[in-house]
Amino acid sequence: MDNLITIDGPGGSGKGTVAKLLAAKLGWNILDSGALYRLIALISENIKETDPDSIGIELKDKNIFFKLIGDQYHLFFDGKDVTDTIRREEIGIKASDLAHNQNIRDLIKDTQRSFYDPNTGLIADGRDMGSVVFPEAKIKIYLDASIEERAKRRQIQLKEKGMEVNMRNLISSLEDRDLKDKNRDVSPLLIPEGAKVIDSTNLSIDEVLNKIMDLV
Ligand code: C5P
Repeated sequence: MDNLITIDGPGGSGKGTVAKLLAAKLGWNILDSGALYRLIALISENIKETDPDSIGIELKDKNIFFKLIGDQYHLFFDGKDVTDTIRREEIGIKASDLAHNQNIRDLIKDTQRSFYDPNTGLIADGRDMGSVVFPEAKIKIYLDASIEERAKRRQIQLKEKGMEVNMRNLISSLEDRDLKDKNRDVSPLLIPEGAKVIDSTNLSIDEVLNKIMDLV
């Protein structure tokens, strides 16, 4: 798997932005695994069930793909663009809860792996891409940044969407998520074996991209 890059790291570390720019540079596909956990949360909300079997039935034989529209990757599920719906705050919280369930994680592991096409290449970002889903990837990145910097980036992103958020609340919600993601029993957020750690706190996006392109 020479043409596969995994990017793991905490929320707000810039994984999504870096993945998108790398995909454009290399012409590879993208897998935003967080979006798949959010999709599971949306399905579970729609069918009012949280058990993996019921969710599995809803997922079976459905088409799931990412498509670049403008400068944003959109997630399509069963012919519908669910991008805006899965970004809702309550879906994020539900996704985070469901992500603790080993059966749910097993349920979508094959789906996640099916995004890799050896003829095209893939940038996969998330929390366990290099450790669990694609342990055989040749290039693994662990992207990090200070909590203040991550909160600042989130604030700018939200502002662009017209949402005002208090910096102190943002920091505490990021800390809360970090703690949960790093300390859970199943697929915790960790630095995968063989990963290159990039601390982007004082780096521009181009500097981060250049560091990764050096590895490619
Ligand atoms: O990255 P994003 O915030 O969209 O992810 C939604 C949730 O899914 C996160 O809270 C994270 O805990 C979980 N997740 C995960 N494993 C991944 C990607 C995301 O547990 N590979």
